[in-house]
This record gives sequence, C-alpha cells and structure tokens, in this order.
Amino acid sequence: MSDELLAVADAAAQRAYAPYSEYLVGAAVRARDGRVFEGVNVENAAYPLGVCAEKSALVRAVGEGYRPGDIAAIGITASPCGGCRQWLYEFGIEEVTFLNAQGELATYSAAELLPDTWDLPA
Ligand code: THU
Repeated sequence: MSDELLAVADAAAQRAYAPYSEYLVGAAVRARDGRVFEGVNVENAAYPLGVCAEKSALVRAVGEGYRPGDIAAIGITASPCGGCRQWLYEFGIEEVTFLNAQGELATYSAAELLPDTWDLPA
C-alpha cells in the first residue's frame, strides 16, 4: 500500500518545477476515502518562496474539502524537511512513507517525525 503511494509520488516528481536545485520531489497523499492527491515541489527565483511537494499535495486535498483527520497516508520521494513534518503533524497523518538517506523505504507516523509538539485545535 505504502509502496503504491510512493510509486505515484515518484511519477509525479517528473512534473516538479525545480530549475534551481534540480531536485525533483513528488508526494502523494491518500485520504481515508481512498482519493489520492499528488504534489510536486515548485521553486521560485526568490528561493525561500519555493513550495515543497508535501505541502503542494496537502494544499490540493484541502482545496477539495479534506481536513486534518481525513488524510490516512502520504508517500514522498524524499525525507520530509522540518517544515513539512510540522504540516504532516497538523494533518495527523498516521503513515508517512519516504525514501530515507540510505535509499530505503521508511514509514513513521507524523507524531514520530515531530515529537513533543503543541496541541492542535479540537
Ligand atoms: N523539498 C521538498 O519538496 N520536500 C522536502 O521535504 C524536502 C525538500 C524540495 C524543496 C526544494 O525545491 C528542493 O527540494 C531542494 O531542497
């Protein structure tokens, strides 16, 4: 299941817009109802304005009405950055799968990737 999501993320990565880093990242989120949303990183000449693949996938899901608690899993072609870990935590994602620095498939909950964070809205 998580390797399927990673395969979707991997295909999406080809559509990333990353002319500065040339690091193409793809992400695919799966909602509890089975819908899948893909995202890619989108860079900008003003470097800090770039958006990560995880965030662009989650933004698509939210635009379609999905909310924290509605997302079951995400597959990412890279180890999520610190800011994205905070986003994954916001959505309470139980299964976060990515290729780690050793090129191995790793799965954690968002809470494992960002321990001791603050409370979210009820
Ligand atoms: N990147 C992501 O899309 N997700 C991550 O979690 C790690 C980093 C992107 C941001 C930037 O466009 C490129 O990878 C290099 O850091």
